[in-house]
Parts: sequence; C-alpha cells; structure tokens
Amino acid sequence: MCGIIGYVGDRDAAFILVQGLKRLEYRGYDSAGVATFHDGRIAIRRALGKLSNLENLLREDPISGSVGIGHTRWATHGRPSEQNAHPHRAGRIVVIHNGIIENYLELRAALQSRGRRFSSETDTEVISHLVDECVQDGLDLVAASRKAIAQLQGSFSIVVMHEDCPDRLVAAKSATPIVIGLGDSENFVASDIPAILDHTRKVLFLEDGEMAEISRHEVKVTTFAGEPVVREARTVAWDPVTAQKGGYRHFLLKEIHEQPQAIIDTMRGRLLQEKADVSLDELAAAPWLVNAQRIVLVACGTAWHACLVGKYFLEQITRIPAEVDYGSEFRYRNPVVEPGTVLIVVSQSGETADTLAAVEAARERGAKVLAICNVVDSSIARRADAVVYTHAGPEISVASTKAFTTQLTVFYLLGLYLARRRQLIDHDAAHALITDLVNLPKRIEECLERERAIEKIAKKYGDAKSFLYLGRGINYPIALEGALKLKEISYIHAEGYAAGEMKHGPIALINESLPVVVLLPKDGVYGKTLSNMKEVESRGGRIIVITDAPSPELEDIAWEVIQIPTSNPSLLPLLLTIPLQLLAYYIAVYRGSDVDMPRNLAKSVTVE
Ligand code: F6R
Repeated sequence: MCGIIGYVGDRDAAFILVQGLKRLEYRGYDSAGVATFHDGRIAIRRALGKLSNLENLLREDPISGSVGIGHTRWATHGRPSEQNAHPHRAGRIVVIHNGIIENYLELRAALQSRGRRFSSETDTEVISHLVDECVQDGLDLVAASRKAIAQLQGSFSIVVMHEDCPDRLVAAKSATPIVIGLGDSENFVASDIPAILDHTRKVLFLEDGEMAEISRHEVKVTTFAGEPVVREARTVAWDPVTAQKGGYRHFLLKEIHEQPQAIIDTMRGRLLQEKADVSLDELAAAPWLVNAQRIVLVACGTAWHACLVGKYFLEQITRIPAEVDYGSEFRYRNPVVEPGTVLIVVSQSGETADTLAAVEAARERGAKVLAICNVVDSSIARRADAVVYTHAGPEISVASTKAFTTQLTVFYLLGLYLARRRQLIDHDAAHALITDLVNLPKRIEECLERERAIEKIAKKYGDAKSFLYLGRGINYPIALEGALKLKEISYIHAEGYAAGEMKHGPIALINESLPVVVLLPKDGVYGKTLSNMKEVESRGGRIIVITDAPSPELEDIAWEVIQIPTSNPSLLPLLLTIPLQLLAYYIAVYRGSDVDMPRNLAKSVTVE
C-alpha cells in the first residue's frame, strides 16, 4: 500500500518528508516523491525505485521550504514509473493519494471533455484536476477539496496543497487511514503512525468521511458535509518497530488480520449485485478466456494450492476441464497445448522464476496466458496476455496468507464471470453467490475471533513432532496449505492428505502422539470425512477438527473442535484457511521460531 506524509512547520520539509517515508518502507513501494513550497511555487521531485533514488535527486536538485507532502507509491492503476509517481499536479493544485478511485475512468473522460490534459495513467490525477477546477471557479482550498471529494467513489485518503496557500495542507479520509501528528508549532499528517513517531506521539485519527485543514498552529477537523468535528488527541505508546507492525507482534499476524480488508479490496468495484454479475474490465479484450476449451493452472507453493481450489471451483461452475501443475514441472514436461488451451498462472510476487518460465513455455506453444498477481507490473504480469490483480497490498512476512485468500477470491470472481458469459448460471444462483461473497469479510472476522482459543490449542500441541492434515474435495488443497504453513514457520514436519487417501498409506503413521487436523465442513462429503475421522480416532490420533457444524458427536470424537461460521460450500475453503493460519502462527511463536523470516526461505524465489 502507498505511504503518505505531510509537514507544516519551520524545519526543512524535504528532509522530514523523506525520513518519514523511510519509516514506511516496510510497506513496499515502487516509486516515491515529495513536493514543497519552494520560492513561492510548489516544486515536485519524484523518482522510480528506492527512496535512495529520490534522495540522490534531491541532492542534485534540492528543494527548500518548510511545508510539503511526500508519498511512496505501490502501483494499482498504471505501471510503476516516474510519471505515475505521486505527487500529481494539475494547475495550482498538487495531490498525494492512497487507495483506489473506482469511478476514475468516468471522471477522467468528463475532465478530458472539458479540456483537461493528463500526464499520468493514475486514478489520482483526476483528484488534482477536480480540485483545480473548483479552485479556478473561485473556491478556497477546503471548499474546493470538499467539492471534488463529493465526486469520488472508492476508498481513499488524500493530502492536497494549493499554490496560493503556502501555509497549509488539507487531508481527507474515506476508508484508508489518516493520522495527524500534533507538534509544537508544527503539525504532521501521515497514512501510518511510524512516519511521524520520530517527532510526536500526540496524534489524532480522522474517521471515514472527515477532512482536516492543517496549519502550523492549528488543525481544524470537519466532516465532508462541512460539520465541525471535535476530537481529542491521543498519545501513542508504541515504539517505532511495533508501530510498523501496526501494534501486532509480527507482520504475519498483522497480515492474517488484514484479510477481511484485503478481500474487500480484491472485490471492490467488481461485484455487480443488482445484475448478479462480475465486472472484470481487464478481461474485456480477452474473449479467448470465455471461449477456453481447457485451462491449465500453474503456480508454486501456496499459490499452487490456490490453483487447486481454483480448479475445483472453475470446473464446477464453468464446466471447462482444468488441470494444475507446478511451474517447475510444467516448464520441463513438454506440455500439451492445443488450440483453446488457456494458461492461468498465479503469483503473489509476479517474479517467481519457475512460474515465469511456465508462462514462456506456454506462450511458445501458442497458449494465451492470464495472470493472477498481487504486484502490479511485475515480470509475470507484463508477460501475460491479461492480468487480474488481487489488490491485497504488500505482503511482508515470508509465509503467504492474505495473498492466498485474495487469490481464492479472484478465482470466485473469475468463475462467476465465466459462468455468466457461458450462460451456465442463472441470475438467482449468481445473486446468491455474490451475496455470500459480500458477506465473506464479516465471516472472516468471525473466524479471527477464534484466535484466543486457537492460541491455547497451539500451546497444547506445539511440542508434537509431526502433524497430519486431512480434507476432501475443494478443501483438500486447504489441508495441503495448512500443512505447508505449519512446516514453513514452525519447522514441524506436516503432511496434508485427501482424507479418502489416508487408508492407502498415511494411516500407518497414526498413534497417540500424532495431532490430526481434520477439515469437516457440512458439505456433500461430510459423512465420508466423518468416517475418516473415526478411523483416526480408533487408532488413538489426537483429532483437532475445524467445522461449521459442531455437534455432541464431534465433541466425543475430537480432542478439540474449532468452529467456523457457515457459508456457501464453495467459499468454505477460504474460511477454513483462517484457523489453520492462526494455528501455524501460534505454534511457531510457542516454539520460538523466526515467524516473519523463517530459515532458508525467501519472499520472492527468482531462481530455479
Ligand atoms: C508459502 C509461500 C511460497 C510462495 C511461492 C510462490 O507461504 O509464500 O510457497 O507461495 O514461493 O510465490 P509467488 O506467489 O510470489 O509466486
């Protein structure tokens, strides 16, 4: 996610802004920029890549001034480039922005028809033009910002500078955070506390629908409608490291908790509830996908597990035959690619070497490639014929969590999109599934409420030498993912199995010391999985069951029952994932391993 900082005071603004942005580096970014009032005008410096590039630029071409704004960009609309980096100017207005403006295409077209010229591919630039139009109509900075905001749809936080108001900034918040730091004859604004913690601990948070006019000696908060807001300042006790993790002990735990919001961001602007349809504009020029005869899904690690769930779901809803392969296997197996074969690759980083090589192998054989990626303009995204971004925000912890659940969310969107276009699902069925998708973030919150109970279970079983995970059907890949998460971060040997396969081998492992995690949703194979569970019970295995249908019978068989809320059976894989992530996390904490940077692992595997 992007980072925001603003400063109004007497000190060297450019220095304070860059220092603040450095405190936000952990969030990930692809470009950065600052703007200050310099010799009576707003001067902007922007650079692609690391903050050190911006620092070099500022050394070569310095800007003075004691009021300014700074931004680190994580691309969502438009590739990473100097041109797309913030701040964005239009006339006398300069803006930085976090979040997504959903109606920016309409706004951009309207602005262009009124003679406005754009110099970037971003959604942000429409904001600077809208505010500038209002300023040209004679409104002051606050009124102009308010009028422009009224036209925006989506989630955003913005900070605005006006060339005629060199002593103030205006900040506004809708859905993405804004914190104001109160200093002594100086004030700050930021997207996150770490950016300002070196200067003040006295802060004031804006709520959704509020804006602030920030000058040296005063911060005036109002609603978007112009009502005054009285808000007490708070003192934050966090040290800088805790602050970067949003108060969580580890990035992994923070990212697990970010999943409801990440999934909202994945779905944002894509669900058309009234029409019972999905809008994926990025596929408008990809008729080959709707007409696919066969789908091959390729990825590595956790993303490969997402592909397995994707296969179940896509086959069910679109009736297109689908198969799944590892990047490292696909590239060397001389794969069969016939006319009508579409490759779907999934990658958080978009840089995984084996997945990228699979893209090349498929393209050489004439297949069209759709990528599901998190990092915008990554190598895989650039090589694919079409991309659907997950918009999960940067994933810092090495073990993948929110990337996985947002990949599943994209598969749900994609399945519905294809099924509607192939006329395989009627309005009512699609509407029901979309309603369940809309409710999904709330259901995830409910899963996260099991955290304390799962922590206790983790301590009870954390000394085990090995774990077995069982699931069936669309939840079998979730058993694999649960096992992978545990082995990655706790270093305990763990295996995931299709529950029906247990009798063909792994049953030999079961004894009184083996914890067996059983995924038991109330779906079409509930009875079958229950029988498998009984086979484990009769051999003394210590059963931890995760279910949306707890019962006295289960209480008798299982050592532990973790309840999740119920939902459409196709969406249950996502809900079952949450307790497994928490279980792995708390076992790893209990065993004292390096949760965010487990041994031998890298976040992005760019070698074979
Ligand atoms: C597991 C994990 C890895 C990645 C794999 C693919 O927690 O993080 O298994 O899923 O290396 O990475 P991406 O998705 O970046 O291609």
